[in-house]
Amino acid sequence: MIDLASRVSSAAPSATLAVAAKARERARKGLEVISFGTGEPDFDTPAHIRAAAAEALEKGLTRYPPVNGIEELREAVASELESLRGLSYSPSSVLVTVGAKQAIYNLCQAVLEPGSEAVIVSPYWVSYPEMVSLAGARPVVVHADFEEDFVPQVKRIAAAMNEGTRLLMLNSPSNPAGAVIPEATLVELADVLRKYPKVVVMTDDIYSKILFDDVRFSNLAMVAPDLRDRIVIADGVSKAYAMTGWRVGWAVGPDRLIKAMSIVQGQSTSGVTAFAQAGAIAALTGDQSVVDSMVEEFSLRRDRMTAMLNAIDGVSCRAPSGAFYAFPDVRKLMGRRYGDEELRTSGDMARILIEKQGLAVVDGAPFGAEGFIRLSFAASMEQIERGVSSLERFVTGLS
Ligand SMILES: Cc1ncc(COP(=O)(O)O)c(C=O)c1O
Repeated sequence: MIDLASRVSSAAPSATLAVAAKARERARKGLEVISFGTGEPDFDTPAHIRAAAAEALEKGLTRYPPVNGIEELREAVASELESLRGLSYSPSSVLVTVGAKQAIYNLCQAVLEPGSEAVIVSPYWVSYPEMVSLAGARPVVVHADFEEDFVPQVKRIAAAMNEGTRLLMLNSPSNPAGAVIPEATLVELADVLRKYPKVVVMTDDIYSKILFDDVRFSNLAMVAPDLRDRIVIADGVSKAYAMTGWRVGWAVGPDRLIKAMSIVQGQSTSGVTAFAQAGAIAALTGDQSVVDSMVEEFSLRRDRMTAMLNAIDGVSCRAPSGAFYAFPDVRKLMGRRYGDEELRTSGDMARILIEKQGLAVVDGAPFGAEGFIRLSFAASMEQIERGVSSLERFVTGLS
């Protein structure tokens, strides 16, 4: 038998993809499935973006692109950071990547190694600890509680840092909790970071255009310009423009780091698909009302989903400030029974929901939050109503 490298045999496969596989299996058998499992908008990519990519393809944009990305896209990213966030970066500080995911992966490869640590706030995006482990480093998890609106507490982050810390991973609005880090928290955090000059900060802004109730977005680079030589912004078009399958994202940061990350990319995936980059240029430079209308729709769905969840006895859900996930607390249901099966964990609950009711939700445990489940509201209002009613019937039927 072949031996797998220990770095992959200890890495966990994606929990969200496991739910999707179960849902597909049920659908194949002709059984009904309502899916709140996936992390992608249910809208189509806007027409002008698709047209720009089709035109690029027609014009022959089919050869190897530069490893760091097409100049026009890097310019569009830099110019958007200036106009939206007041951050001035040169296009040479931008590395176009295969989704924001590869931006974060490249960064882990560029700054982490065995013996080093990365601080992650839970509930976290499932890939963070795995990417840290794949780089040979140790993920150190700091909890943000439901009772604190899932906003990371600076004193806990400070307590987790030491001389071996090389990376702090921030995500706002967050997946899975939709938590937005307030500006005051970032200001306080900057003070801690000034004591640890070797710590690089990754700010994952992939959901920064999906915000509700006039919540304001800030990232660390905006509040602490003196730290910009060690802040990397990860972002992309996947979520805001319904372009998850296009695989275009980027990293923006100090030249030395961006160069190192581009070496990782040049020796792995190379430049991102050229005509997909043409679509991303159209997304950033074209009509932004397409984003506003999606966000408006997400906001209505969020209200409906959280209201329905909170009406279920034993389920409690904060209204997320951004992204498109509800992350209800189901801890009160633990210990109850479904038939003769006891619900010991939120994982039991997610498994029974898909197997018995055809309702796909994701267990909170792989996000570092046992006792919670994640429901994506990137689903139609009708699906939301039917799906959450099905969850209510499940809970009412517990003994
Ligand atoms: C928090 C977070 N960061 C990054 C990504 C990756 O996005 P992309 O599709 O651009 O690789 C996701 C996707 O689910 C995410 O939820």
